Amino acid sequence: MSDSAGSLQASWSAWKTQVEAALAKCLSEESGLGGECPPRLRESMSYSLLAGGKRLRPVLVLMACEACGGDSEAALPAACAIEMIHTYSLIHDDLPSMDDDDYRRGRLTNHKVFGEALAILAGDALLTLAFEVVARDVRPSSVAAACCADLAFAAGACGMVGGQVADLEAESLECGVTQMLGAPTPPSIQSATRSVDVASAVFGENSSGPSSVVTTARAANEYQPPQSNGGLRRAAALQDLEAIHRRKTGRLIRSALTLGGRIAQADVAKLGTLDHYGTCIGLAFQIADDVLDVTGTQDKLGKGVGKDASLGKLTYPGLIGLDRSRQMAQELIDEACLAIAPWGECGQRLEAMARFVLERDH
Ligand code: IPE
Ligand code: IPE
Ligand code: MG
Ligand code: MG
Ligand code: MG
Repeated sequence: MSDSAGSLQASWSAWKTQVEAALAKCLSEESGLGGECPPRLRESMSYSLLAGGKRLRPVLVLMACEACGGDSEAALPAACAIEMIHTYSLIHDDLPSMDDDDYRRGRLTNHKVFGEALAILAGDALLTLAFEVVARDVRPSSVAAACCADLAFAAGACGMVGGQVADLEAESLECGVTQMLGAPTPPSIQSATRSVDVASAVFGENSSGPSSVVTTARAANEYQPPQSNGGLRRAAALQDLEAIHRRKTGRLIRSALTLGGRIAQADVAKLGTLDHYGTCIGLAFQIADDVLDVTGTQDKLGKGVGKDASLGKLTYPGLIGLDRSRQMAQELIDEACLAIAPWGECGQRLEAMARFVLERDH
């Protein structure tokens, strides 16, 4: 293990412990939610929120804050908030009406234990609690307001929720995904262009089709493209898939970085670097998640595997194969490391974190 990976692991585990204690406090009767919360609701919220998980997003908040010279203690409320939002998204993602999963974080999914109605409501309560914590505990209040706005954008209709809708709709692909996502904003036009360039390079004119690994072939084959050329058709689907992944997973991860930077009162240039780094690792993280659904084990991941293919999800391995998916994730990680390189020692843990996103098995 390299020095920076070792140092990442040590600080990650210390921060994880700190975050978990703070999360437990947020839900407690004495110093958190208080006594008015129905006991069964608190139980359902705690069941998922205190079930472990990597705590990647809260750790990123603390890491970004520290890399910008801030006090990570001050970033703890925002770190808890983002983990609450992430956990709510997982509870809802697992519902029968969504991915219909039985296992999460090494235990039965929330709705399997508490029933669908309580699972939905526990998710709702975690989402609202997140904003309460940031608005109340982040200082100064102008930074709290900016953090609330960042989080709302990342988690809402144009972020995670919008991406989840597109993810579900892409299962059937009865209409073009671009239509479902609406007009792209300027940054996604840029990334879409990049995506088409990459796709053309990856597939070439005489491509014989996506590799046969797993396949959401249904998705790739039934997609209605504006052109009939096979390479271009996949390029268009890849462009749509990138937009889905950036929204459903990328934006929340990106906001973890900018939240940490804001709390450290970082300047615009530093926030810009964090934003760029976060955008790259956010997309790479979901590509790796797609890959792990094919290559990983339930034991390590704590959730079922092989689900994407069985649901006909539009995924990177399904569209371009495992090797090319890994290659795309690698390029994004290289880009993230390049962005953070000028930070020298301050950016070392962020660099190690970027490598983890790609190399992880859980
Ligand atoms: C899983 O996220 C869902 C995705 C957004 C891909 P994580 O892999 O971060 O899940 P936990 O928090 O460690 O359980
Ligand atoms: C979910 O993506 C992303 C969320 C916003 C929760 P997935 O559906 O691929 O996540 P897993 O594989 O169930 O964790
Ligand atoms: Mg899903
Ligand atoms: Mg899922
Ligand atoms: Mg997945």
